Amino acid sequence: MPASASTLDFGYPWWLSYGHVIVLAPALALLLIGYLRKWSKWPMLFLGALAIWSSAAFLLVRFGFDVNGRAALPTQSFLRSGTGRVLDLGAGTGRSSIMVLAARPQTTLVALDLFGDSFERHFGPGESPQQRLLRNLAAAGVQQRATIETSDMRKLPFEAASFDAIVSSYAVDHLNREGITQALAEAARVVKPGGEFLLILIANDKWAKFLFGPLLSHGGTRGSAWWNTRVKEAGFQVVEEGTYPATLYLLLRRP
Ligand SMILES: C[S@@+](CC[C@H](N)C(=O)[O-])C[C@H]1O[C@@H](n2cnc3c(N)ncnc32)[C@H](O)[C@@H]1O
Repeated sequence: MPASASTLDFGYPWWLSYGHVIVLAPALALLLIGYLRKWSKWPMLFLGALAIWSSAAFLLVRFGFDVNGRAALPTQSFLRSGTGRVLDLGAGTGRSSIMVLAARPQTTLVALDLFGDSFERHFGPGESPQQRLLRNLAAAGVQQRATIETSDMRKLPFEAASFDAIVSSYAVDHLNREGITQALAEAARVVKPGGEFLLILIANDKWAKFLFGPLLSHGGTRGSAWWNTRVKEAGFQVVEEGTYPATLYLLLRRP
């Protein structure tokens, strides 16, 4: 597949980065009108609070969470050896694949995704999803070390113990309960004994509640304890666990 080097475009919808401006702009305009027309204290206080929340949320989403920007490994403990064959479950447009390939330049990686309805829901319709992923891998200069696999993470087309490590970011939490069990069991099957799994999940924490309120639903009902139980049932040990805004990550090892 041809891919020309261009700039990275992870393709998450614009409203994830700029949606709060839709609240901020009218709030500021109404504040100005209210000030000029001398509105009473309560509507002005309400508008002021709305403007403060929406500007803080905009700054956090755009420059803190920055879902359309490059991601950094949440823990340097992942793949400390710096080498090996890695599998990305639900690679999407490549954000998590590039995160690993850039941080661990001696690795190779299989970027696996179903490239179906879920891909289109997140990244919109348009040109071939695989082509979009390939273009981002090329833009990041890592395409020589990556291959793309169109498959379902619930039934992986790989031999047992064929990967040194697995990464999955904001993908396993899109599956239903049965799908999660299947995907974790498959991950445990295809990773080598002693291999690692960096599992990154959306968390409906105080940051997510502050930024998105009730609009963020998926993954939110499942906290750390729930995920710990699931990964242990699949046969993983939890080596490290951590959080950053709207995110829970677990570093797992197959004994
Ligand atoms: C929110 S995106 C995450 C993409 C990328 N990992 C990232 O961090 O930006 C979730 C991805 O999981 C993929 N996905 C959902 N269900 C899947 C399945 N059963 N098998 C493989 N991929 C799946 C979707 O197609 C989508 O690309």
